[in-house]
Amino acid sequence: MNCGQALEQARLILTDSGIDEPFLEGEILLRHTLDVDRATLFASLNEELTPVQVALFLQLVERRRLGEPSAYITGSREFFGLDFKVDRRVLIPRPETELVVEKAIDLYRRNKYDTMADIGTGSGCIAISLARHLAGVHVYALDISSDALEIAAQNSLLHHVQDKITFIHGDLLEPLPGPVDIMIANLPYVKKTEMNLKSEPELALDGGVEGLDKINNLCRQAPGKIIPGGRLLLEIGQGQAEAVKAIIHNTFPDGVIDIYKDLSGIDRVVSVRLTG
Ligand SMILES: C[S@@+](CC[C@H](N)C(=O)[O-])C[C@H]1O[C@@H](n2cnc3c(N)ncnc32)[C@H](O)[C@@H]1O
Repeated sequence: MNCGQALEQARLILTDSGIDEPFLEGEILLRHTLDVDRATLFASLNEELTPVQVALFLQLVERRRLGEPSAYITGSREFFGLDFKVDRRVLIPRPETELVVEKAIDLYRRNKYDTMADIGTGSGCIAISLARHLAGVHVYALDISSDALEIAAQNSLLHHVQDKITFIHGDLLEPLPGPVDIMIANLPYVKKTEMNLKSEPELALDGGVEGLDKINNLCRQAPGKIIPGGRLLLEIGQGQAEAVKAIIHNTFPDGVIDIYKDLSGIDRVVSVRLTG
């Protein structure tokens, strides 16, 4: 079997099982099997695989067919142009979360902010992307899951930004040492009734009955934890913008709110500028 035939076989198997983007998924698994980048794979479509490579590749395709996410199979996921180590202890970074990173970078450049907090850091994808892109920044990265913090710390070493990030274990803002210029949070926001857990940690997704428990609690704790004139950036779920605006209005009645849409046109990021 050559590389092109292996990709076609994976596509057929994964299509049959209703897996989204079956060709792309097969490509990710074959690249992982051969440890090659995309360009090398597509330049080698006529090259024969060894029997060991075929067996290993088909095992991975079978795991994917049974529902395991490819990021957990390969142990990594790309986010904001960087590869992050992931396993079942953390949420797999989502492309739509890149929006909150873009907004934070833009604010940093326009306002010369230098301390940030990433609440619910998970794999560390937000904190590490910011630390990699912004020269003078220091990021506090908090999570209630010590497993997640372990992976985030490994990712910070992988991307050589460990000196720019302080990892802190604890519940929401309780352990945050002082006010920051920008606070970013992608907290769990899935409604309890809409939880469809397959492999990812419940702690990373479960936002309570309306999906807003964690966002609500964070907003209640936020006064005094962001400097006057600073920003709060929240990632939200589809249809949550109005409810989140109301929560923010309660805590920061004078806060200036902007909502940003993701590439699918869904309200995804709520930005609050604190007056003062
Ligand atoms: C939706 S995931 C986001 C992970 C990562 N920031 C990302 O964007 O991929 C939410 C994260 O919040 C953490 N979390 C849940 N409840 C928390 C709490 N009360 N305090 C701090 N972190 C919490 C979870 O452990 C999880 O890592």
